[in-house]
Amino acid sequence: MSVLFLGSDHAGLGLKQILGQYLAARFTIHDVGTHSEDSCDYPLIADALCTQVRQTAGLGILICGSGLGMSMAANRHAGIRAALCANEYMARMSRLHNNANVLCLGERILGVDLAKAIVDAFVETSFEGGRHERRVGLIDTQPSLATR
Ligand code: RB5
Repeated sequence: MSVLFLGSDHAGLGLKQILGQYLAARFTIHDVGTHSEDSCDYPLIADALCTQVRQTAGLGILICGSGLGMSMAANRHAGIRAALCANEYMARMSRLHNNANVLCLGERILGVDLAKAIVDAFVETSFEGGRHERRVGLIDTQPSLATR
């Protein structure tokens, strides 16, 4: 079974636990934290998960209240393509065209059934490649990035 990394702050803990159980029959779940309802800082969780995803070339899911902070933090990592998704179409396209390797969700935005449907679309869709290979490569090599 392949590994799927999960991470959340306190505001995403409940949904993370539900999704962890939902996905456990299909993946070996590696939960990078947080493990309690105590308030914590989402960039540190994003950092832990992105490090694992980069090292293993795997997939991860990050959950906070809105999903916004997690996606901002995760996308600072070179090689991480974090997609904040609010519906199944976004999740499917994030894999198909953008080769997203991290899915970001907002527990305060999504109901459980929709969150499960988004996760299903994300893990069941593969990158299409082709013309999208070049475009995805350009995310980390945009011309002006080299001069900063
Ligand atoms: C925590 O209150 C909240 O700010 C956090 O979970 C996240 O939504 C930030 O983007």
